[in-house]
Amino acid sequence: MRKPERYPEIRLLGASGNALEIIDGIHAKDPDVTVVVHDDEGRYDGKMVNLGGHLLQYGGKINARCCALAPENAFFLLTVGSPRDYRDRRKDIIKRLDLDDRRWWIYQDPQAVVRSSAEVSLGAIIMAGAYVGAKTHIGTHVILLPQSYVAHGAWARCRSILASGAKLNGGSIVGMDCYVGANAVIREGVLIGDGSIIGAGAVVLNEVPPDSVVVGVPGVVTPREEWDAKKRFVEITDTLGSDTRHPNERQ
Ligand SMILES: CC(C)(COP(=O)(O)OP(=O)(O)OC[C@H]1O[C@@H](n2cnc3c(N)ncnc32)[C@H](O)[C@@H]1OP(=O)(O)O)[C@@H](O)C(=O)NCCC(=O)NCCS
Repeated sequence: MRKPERYPEIRLLGASGNALEIIDGIHAKDPDVTVVVHDDEGRYDGKMVNLGGHLLQYGGKINARCCALAPENAFFLLTVGSPRDYRDRRKDIIKRLDLDDRRWWIYQDPQAVVRSSAEVSLGAIIMAGAYVGAKTHIGTHVILLPQSYVAHGAWARCRSILASGAKLNGGSIVGMDCYVGANAVIREGVLIGDGSIIGAGAVVLNEVPPDSVVVGVPGVVTPREEWDAKKRFVEITDTLGSDTRHPNERQ
C-alpha cells in the first residue's frame, strides 16, 4: 500500500458526509494538506466552500474536465456513496473520468485498524473505527464506513460499500458494486453476488445471487427487478388513494 507522508493535494469527488469524515481525518494528521471538493451539481459558485466548518477549495462538477484541470500531483477519491448510488452511478463516474490508476489515492483513517497482511486497492476509503483483518482483500474504490468490520480472509470487491457497523465474517465475499447496510451481518464464508444490496440490520446466512435485495433476520432475498416493480406498484397505488378509478375517468 502506498503511504507517502504528505500529499500536495487531495480531490474528493462528492461533497457528502463521507467527504466530511475524510477531511477531518486528513487534517487531524496534517492540517496543511490541500483538500479540494467536487460535487454533482456545481452548486457552489464561489471558489471556496464551507463544509462542516472546513473552508475548502471548490473544484467544480465531477467530470472529466475537473480532472484535466487538477494539478498533476493531485490524488483523487470517489466519496459519492449513498445507498441509492450503490450500483451503476459510482461505476459510471469512474468510467467517465477515465483517470490513470495511479491518480487514485487510498484513504486510511488514522483511527482505522488494517492488518499488515490485508490487501488494500487504489481508491479505497477506510474510515475511523473500521477493522480490516488479516489476509483480507479490499477492492478498488471500496468504502468502509466507520465501525465496519472485515474479518480474516473476507473480501469486499470493487466499488462496494460497507455502511457503519456492517460485518463481513471470516472468508465471506461481497461482490462488485454491492451496498451492505448499517449493522448488517454476513455469515462466514457466504458469497454476496455482484450488484446486490443488503438492507440495514439484515443477517445473511446463505449465498445471495447477483442483483438481489436482502432484508430481515434471517435475510429474505428478492431479485432487484421484483423489488423495484413492487415499489413502483406501491407508489402508484399510494397516489390513487381510495379512488380506484382509472385516472382518465376522474375529473
Ligand atoms: C434495503 C433498502 C435499500 C430498501 O430501500 P427502499 O427500496 O427505499 O425500500 P423502502 O424503504 O421503500 O421499503 C420497502 C419495504 O421494505 C421494508 N424494508 C426496507 N428496509 C428494510 C430493512 N433494512 N429491514 C427490514 N425491512 C426493510 C420496508 O419496511 C418496506 O416494507 P413494506 O413494503 O412491507 O412496507 C433500505 O431500506 C436500507 O436498508 N438501506 C440501507 C440504509 C443504511 O444502512 N444506511 C447507512 C448509512 S451509514
